[in-house]
Amino acid sequence: MLQLNASSSRWTAFFLLFLALCSLLTPAVTVKHENFKTCDQSGFCKRNRAYADSALSTSSWSSPYKLEASSVRFDKGLLTGIVTKTVGDETIRLPLSVSFYESGTARVTIDEEKRRKGEIELRHNSKARKERYNEAEQWAIVGGTVLSKGAATTQGAEKGTTRVAYGPAGAFEAVIKHSPFGVDFKRNGETQIKFNGQGMLNVEHWRPKIDKPVPEKKEGEEEKKGGEESAEVDTNVVTADDEGTWWEESFGGNTDSKPRGPEAVALDISFPGYQHVYGLAEHTGPLSLKETRGGDGKYTEPYRMYNSDVFEYEMDSPMTLYGSIPFMQAQKKNSTVGVLWLNAAETWVDITKSSSSANPLSFGIGATTTTNTHWISESGLLDVFVMLGPKPQDVIGTYSELTGYTQLPQQFAIAYHQCRWNYVTDEDVKDVDRKFDKNKIPYDVIWLDIEYTEGKKYFTWDPMTFADPLGMQKQLDEHERKLVAIIDPHIKNEGNYYVVDELKSKDLAVHNKDDNIYEGWCWPGSSYWIDCFNPAARTWWQSLFRYDRFAGSATNTFIWNDMNEPSVFNGPETTMPKDNLHHAGWEHRDLHNLNGLTLINATFSALLARSPAEVSHPIRPFVLTRSFFAGSQRLGAVWTGDNQAAWPHLEASIPMLLSMGISGFPFAGADVGGFFGNPSKELLTRWYQAGAFYPFFRGHAHIDTRRREPYLAGEPYTGIITQALRLRYALLPAWYTACHEAHVRGEPIVRPNWYVHPEDERGFELDDQFYVGSTGLLAKPVVREGQLESQEVYLADGERYFGYFDFEGYQGPGVVKVSAGLEEIPLLMRGGHVIPRRDRPRRSSGLMRWDPFTLVVVLGKAGDAEGTLYLDDGESFGYEEGAFIHRKFSYSAATSVLMSEDLAATGAGGSKKAKEYLKGMEKVRVEKIIVVNAPAAWKGREEVEVSEEGAGKSGAVRKVGMEWFAGEGGKAAWAVVRDPGVGIGRGWKVAFA
Ligand SMILES: *[C@@H]1O[C@H](CO)[C@@H](O)[C@H](O)[C@H]1NC(C)=O
Ligand SMILES: *[C@@H]1O[C@H](CO)[C@@H](O)[C@H](O)[C@H]1NC(C)=O
Repeated sequence: MLQLNASSSRWTAFFLLFLALCSLLTPAVTVKHENFKTCDQSGFCKRNRAYADSALSTSSWSSPYKLEASSVRFDKGLLTGIVTKTVGDETIRLPLSVSFYESGTARVTIDEEKRRKGEIELRHNSKARKERYNEAEQWAIVGGTVLSKGAATTQGAEKGTTRVAYGPAGAFEAVIKHSPFGVDFKRNGETQIKFNGQGMLNVEHWRPKIDKPVPEKKEGEEEKKGGEESAEVDTNVVTADDEGTWWEESFGGNTDSKPRGPEAVALDISFPGYQHVYGLAEHTGPLSLKETRGGDGKYTEPYRMYNSDVFEYEMDSPMTLYGSIPFMQAQKKNSTVGVLWLNAAETWVDITKSSSSANPLSFGIGATTTTNTHWISESGLLDVFVMLGPKPQDVIGTYSELTGYTQLPQQFAIAYHQCRWNYVTDEDVKDVDRKFDKNKIPYDVIWLDIEYTEGKKYFTWDPMTFADPLGMQKQLDEHERKLVAIIDPHIKNEGNYYVVDELKSKDLAVHNKDDNIYEGWCWPGSSYWIDCFNPAARTWWQSLFRYDRFAGSATNTFIWNDMNEPSVFNGPETTMPKDNLHHAGWEHRDLHNLNGLTLINATFSALLARSPAEVSHPIRPFVLTRSFFAGSQRLGAVWTGDNQAAWPHLEASIPMLLSMGISGFPFAGADVGGFFGNPSKELLTRWYQAGAFYPFFRGHAHIDTRRREPYLAGEPYTGIITQALRLRYALLPAWYTACHEAHVRGEPIVRPNWYVHPEDERGFELDDQFYVGSTGLLAKPVVREGQLESQEVYLADGERYFGYFDFEGYQGPGVVKVSAGLEEIPLLMRGGHVIPRRDRPRRSSGLMRWDPFTLVVVLGKAGDAEGTLYLDDGESFGYEEGAFIHRKFSYSAATSVLMSEDLAATGAGGSKKAKEYLKGMEKVRVEKIIVVNAPAAWKGREEVEVSEEGAGKSGAVRKVGMEWFAGEGGKAAWAVVRDPGVGIGRGWKVAFA
């Protein structure tokens, strides 16, 4: 802060003038709240919040939902029955199914009989489908739904319940209560999750519109309704006003015709004993989700999920953003459970916490808190998956089995990406490429935003500015670099543009409510939107990417799908009207949050099929998406959209990316440097240091900003940024191994403290430091201005930790100070791990293919260490046929031996591809082993004994030089073995004593 002398009024005046000028120069950087609905402005949210209030405030509240005991059937892991909702003398039938899967997941689905059978009338001659949307699972769910043979009903002592034991060793139980309907999910006899415990279950049933004047609400009516008459009135009617939003809703000058009337689904889900809930990506607030119903430090709005292009989004907010993952995990000491709310319509979630001191089952601090959540969706099925843990990995593992694992990225995709809106000509791109080389700064990918096209017509190049795209890409390819070009889903409505002509003639665009082609406004002006819910549209989309059609694209061209919420500049809330119609007559309302996923699905397939050669030798696609839903992780990477060059945005990026990581979509990044505005050099430098720890690492900038490629920053900044980039490149083997763990187990790439230490309650809220995969690397990037001394890093356990750069020793548990000068990244290595890296600086990751490895063996307090390395060609699908190297390195204090063992499940060398790959990697060796926290007993030793498996030489022992260094001050001792010469893909042993 500026220090001002208060007595000097002249300076005060100057200062105020200065501030005034600053505010003129700084663009307005606040979101336009008036463009996005609050819960009160969203009819179904308001109705259900009011319904919840009635349930909570009315002592005689009784949920009007009952499971008809006589309807219950159970067979081979599937329970079915009819839930009835009684409103006055009307009984609404709601088919229920509760599925129990082999994976240990349970699923509760509620439909509505009348809509399912189509026995309803649509208003306004709508051509929309009558059913509740039941196709979200076709997009989001890809596995884990084999019904459990072991699940079985059990005899409960309680009358009026049906109990099903399921899960591993029958440790899980679902207690289904008949009246009112509700389900308690138990693990080892203890309730972990309750459905409808608070009576907020609400399925807005179909009803005809009765045109009558809305009566004035009389004083006192509220109490009467909540009292003895509660069972007789329609419990959806909370106030007379609300009926106004049943049939029609207007917002921002747009009117939603709502042909099916009110159709929301809502449910309360409680987590007894759980203090923290995480998930509901994407939001800008803390990782541990906040309470949403008032009070100090709480939000007043529910968390909203309605994928939107939110211009200049704000910090610490439950407002919606570009993507939605309706998945939540609850955490208490030693226990993690989760729910997936499978609904693609607009969804709001309220979170409140309550304390009860008399919970006999609670242990330790804070364990008496119960977290209550209330989920509200505008339409569709009520469809919830329940995962009972108990470990974080159990929950994310079953979630990932359901929705699919993160695509294994190509290696270039986890290296550094250079983007800007826009590189203006092909010569400009080539110039930037040369300048990176001249300045010895590594990068892998350069990006083109919308200006490369001819008049925003995708699949074209501006002939004036990008006259020679192939020549440009040829230069990039000389250093194995790639190009990513943007292709958006809005298609310019202009004559003589083959893409729009085909879109129209084949009728593959989204329709409006009258079932004609929908026209809206986006970058090109008047546009139409491809409807990727239509299989024919996806097939057509694929054809557009063929090299002969998208002339100027090459094998090193990959794709960025932006604006796929979809963003519509003149639409309600910057998107499509909800009564627009998609393929098969589904309303946009039903599937909005899936829209972005369907586009990248089509683009992913398109990249696989660009030429016949690629069908037989496919290269893994790379697609970046802005909008997403559960399941999008299978198809690409994501970034957090249009952030700002401001410190709070750098700070918020860490919890946002951690949240993506625990939500099954870990391949995520934020624009390094900030999209809007010009970062100070300190901010830019700190952002690169943080970005080197984003799973997806891309610098990007708005068209109105100054150029900021790393070589332009000047010293010392350019040098410091280059060091951060080199660090990322050196650690690519560790990052790639972490990506593999995400790909096969669904684990986050960067992991928050609670995920790694679920027993440590003090670390449950921590979201500004994280671990990289299972490498033991613990990073806490500096995200605040002027913090040039040190960072406090929290160590959760009693391990020893060491500075990555200087081997400074730290002892956990507790908070330690780590030096954080501008040129430093606070980065520790947890004892007990082995970290693989490649230390030779190269221009791009592709050029590191044959480089040797360095292994950093970090001995923990027990003197042992263990780590893994996953490696493949970094681009093909050969790994699916065994063409990979997967090693475990372990050092045992008892034997003083470091060994490399094969982890390949199928046994390496099986397929032809596998053999070829291993042969190609034969000469790739370990060039250095660094042992951190090396035993003092090694002092004076100058050799280690190396033995390697392999043809003929098996058992032969070689002696290799070793040097031991005493740690000075607080530093740990270390030892270096130079050139042990062992193969990275081989089994070997290095004996240190
Ligand atoms: C929690 O887990 C830790 C580590 O596994 C164990 O030592 C501890 O006893 C457990 N505590 C409870 C309350 O279960
Ligand atoms: C795209 O979606 C369709 C329909 O759900 C599915 O069959 C196909 O496998 C998906 N493609 C990819 C690449 O995931």
